[in-house]
Amino acid sequence: MRDSERLKPLVDAAARVRTRAYAPYSGVKIGAAVLTSGGKVYSACNVENSSYGLSCCAERAAIFKAVSEGHTDIRAIAVVGESEEFTSPCGACRQVMVEFNPKMKVLRRGDDGFSENAVAGELLPSHFRPEGLASR
Ligand code: THU
Repeated sequence: MRDSERLKPLVDAAARVRTRAYAPYSGVKIGAAVLTSGGKVYSACNVENSSYGLSCCAERAAIFKAVSEGHTDIRAIAVVGESEEFTSPCGACRQVMVEFNPKMKVLRRGDDGFSENAVAGELLPSHFRPEGLASR
């Protein structure tokens, strides 16, 4: 089975949670869903704030939700945005993805429905690593 078919439930979860986006300032609604190694799915939407800088992206919210439930082994993430185009995760979210798995599959919406677009490490080459922490 192709990844795009196997991971369809993940994409559906991202699309569902997108409807809950709290985005009164930008109007941009995003949904994200992560798949853990144990097969669990955690989804989240973007949540904005009148103090704009406090807004949180859907991708990070979904990853933090999984980690908070004890799941750090994240295999894939689906991101659903406004259009048929790939919703390209922001740099901050890419850094959070590589923290948990540089090989995390990042799914996009394409002509053929959803398909695997890239892995997180490729989306953020030369990312900051724990080895860069002086105290370690
Ligand atoms: N946003 C996401 O949720 N994910 C991204 O990868 C990029 C941007 C949200 C943040 C903000 O609420 C809105 O989209 C506009 O930037």
